[in-house]
Amino acid sequence: MSPPILVDRREQAEQELAREIADLVRGRRRLVLGLATGDTPSGVYRELARMRRDEALDFGRVVTFNLDEFLGLPPDHPRAFERWTEERVFEPLGIPRENRHVPGVDAAHATVPERCAAYELAIREAGGIDLLLLGIGRNGHVAFNEPGSSREARTREVELHPWTREDAATAFGGLASVPERAVTMGVATILAAKRLRVLAFGARKASIVRRALEGPVGPEVPASFLRGHRDLRVWLDREAAAELGTGRRTVRS
Ligand code: PGA
Repeated sequence: MSPPILVDRREQAEQELAREIADLVRGRRRLVLGLATGDTPSGVYRELARMRRDEALDFGRVVTFNLDEFLGLPPDHPRAFERWTEERVFEPLGIPRENRHVPGVDAAHATVPERCAAYELAIREAGGIDLLLLGIGRNGHVAFNEPGSSREARTREVELHPWTREDAATAFGGLASVPERAVTMGVATILAAKRLRVLAFGARKASIVRRALEGPVGPEVPASFLRGHRDLRVWLDREAAAELGTGRRTVRS
């Protein structure tokens, strides 16, 4: 993989990535995006919404696939990723309703395995994901591919790792309210995207960033599988890059 891009301020990474996405939006008849949720990607979505407002960037031909979703929450639950994405991506960017996809929630299919299979099919029918935006969890997860996930995994139901639930506890008003299960794109689904764009910010990610980028590749740190992708770009702020070997710390001025 090419060396991670180091930035002094996360806004630099957010703007660079938003610009790349905007160029693809403008240059294509249709663009298929994979969407992460949470703090990490939120600045990229804010910047894209600004471009829609100030530069009349038109997202009418953009198709989206969310990476993951909790199981057992109604879609309008304030912590459902579907709701999060609606407020920060679908509405501010003006993604047409019929172009939005969230795993595990499709009422046309009765069971979770059927919904997962339908999600994989929908991605294939859309022509695959052109660009997928990703964060890295403290435990090395990508989407909800928790430690132990295989390189071959596809969209499926998973049990959430204790750290993942802990990290969500404040938002849910306590650990007991955090769902135990979720649906996630698999590692293989993610690796099939044409471009992978990864962001990690802050000191709490430093240790897992080192393991993901410099440690052994394997299921213990699912993010390490990303290194096998031919079009991977990783942006880090100085805090997240703090534990990398010095040779790898190429700084973007
Ligand atoms: P964060 O999580 O955005 O809450 O830091 C990243 C992730 O878990 O993928």
